[in-house]
Amino acid sequence: MDSKAIRSLFPMYENGVLMQGKPLIWLDNASTTFKPKSVIEAMERYYCQENSNAHRGDYDLSYQMDVEMEKTRKAVASFIGASEKEIIFTSGTTASLNLVAFGYAAKHLTKDDEILISESEHASNVLPWFEVAKQVGCQVKYVPLSKEGRILPSAVEAAMNEHTKIVSLAHVSNVLGHELEAKAIAEIVHRRDAIFVLDGAQSVPHLVTDVADLDCDFLAFSGHKMCGPTGIGILYGKYELLKQTEAVFTGGGMNVNFYLTGDAQYLEPPFRFEPGTQNLAGIIGLRAAIEFLSSIGMEEIQRHERELKRYCVEKLEKLPKVTIYNPTSEAGIVTFNIEGVFAQDAATFFNSKGIAVRSGQHCAKLLNGFLGAPATVRASFYLYTTKEDIDAFVDAVAHSEDYLDAYFN
Ligand code: ALA
Repeated sequence: MDSKAIRSLFPMYENGVLMQGKPLIWLDNASTTFKPKSVIEAMERYYCQENSNAHRGDYDLSYQMDVEMEKTRKAVASFIGASEKEIIFTSGTTASLNLVAFGYAAKHLTKDDEILISESEHASNVLPWFEVAKQVGCQVKYVPLSKEGRILPSAVEAAMNEHTKIVSLAHVSNVLGHELEAKAIAEIVHRRDAIFVLDGAQSVPHLVTDVADLDCDFLAFSGHKMCGPTGIGILYGKYELLKQTEAVFTGGGMNVNFYLTGDAQYLEPPFRFEPGTQNLAGIIGLRAAIEFLSSIGMEEIQRHERELKRYCVEKLEKLPKVTIYNPTSEAGIVTFNIEGVFAQDAATFFNSKGIAVRSGQHCAKLLNGFLGAPATVRASFYLYTTKEDIDAFVDAVAHSEDYLDAYFN
């Protein structure tokens, strides 16, 4: 893949954006990604030429918006191997996981039940489960991580018992970048009659996703981590389970009728979960993002990121003061610390070089004990990341003697 040529399609590169007066080196893709022109233009077209609401107008522009929404639903379904009626538009992974937690789990679990997650989940795959547990009076349990920080199918099997009703795990960890053996875990979870929720925030943007093959029951992901707009995301659910999921938000567009008596009838999924005016520009932009990624090929994107990961780890391993926490994980995420340098100070120093990385706990605050560090630095790659970016980054890491200067300048 020619990531340099790909950069010409991204205004953030084409516009020569600087940080601290230096060309921007963007290594915070696990947080959010840049948007290609095609996504921005699709959204601009909506605002400048197609502006209307969906499902509410008896005129051409509104009808056209209905068509656009359903075209995106179809594109998302085909991108992840689902059927259209299993695709719900949400505002992002967080909203999607909350919908599963409060629309499905809170309605079906009882006080003797257990929800199984892991210590490496980010907040959106922890806090909704804590809240469900409080509401229902049930418990949240954790799958122990392997030495490397992986969630092994055997550990999931051992952690499950007859009370486990939900298993919710990240397909790719946002801190360690390990890829879950999701298919094997789905088989174990289903053998024990539980539901398998997959947090795809860090996987769908980077891998080929086929929910039919993975056999997960729900899958959540966000547009902005896959070259799409912010504020748009997806919840996939097996249709039978969506039928058993209750609306968490109610309003216009999701009901058949409602009466003075207080009775109301709701639409069937997926429309039951899409009340109010949806993020229409986001929906249009998401389709453009999927078209963009598909034109490059998810296998190719994955191959590129794995190559960059190896390249980066090999270079960082040569630096004696660097501890890498995830040298063997699959994703294009490198999490590390530099001896004697607090992670946020390191990130401040990288900023002075025009390099954007994330430092801290990366929203995965249960993982500190496992890592044995209060904070780490994370560099994360995407299809437009080049080896030159990594060279510049590793060079900055190597100049640890400059950290204090950067901090006090
Ligand atoms: N969960 C996102 C990250 O890992 C925000 O940075």
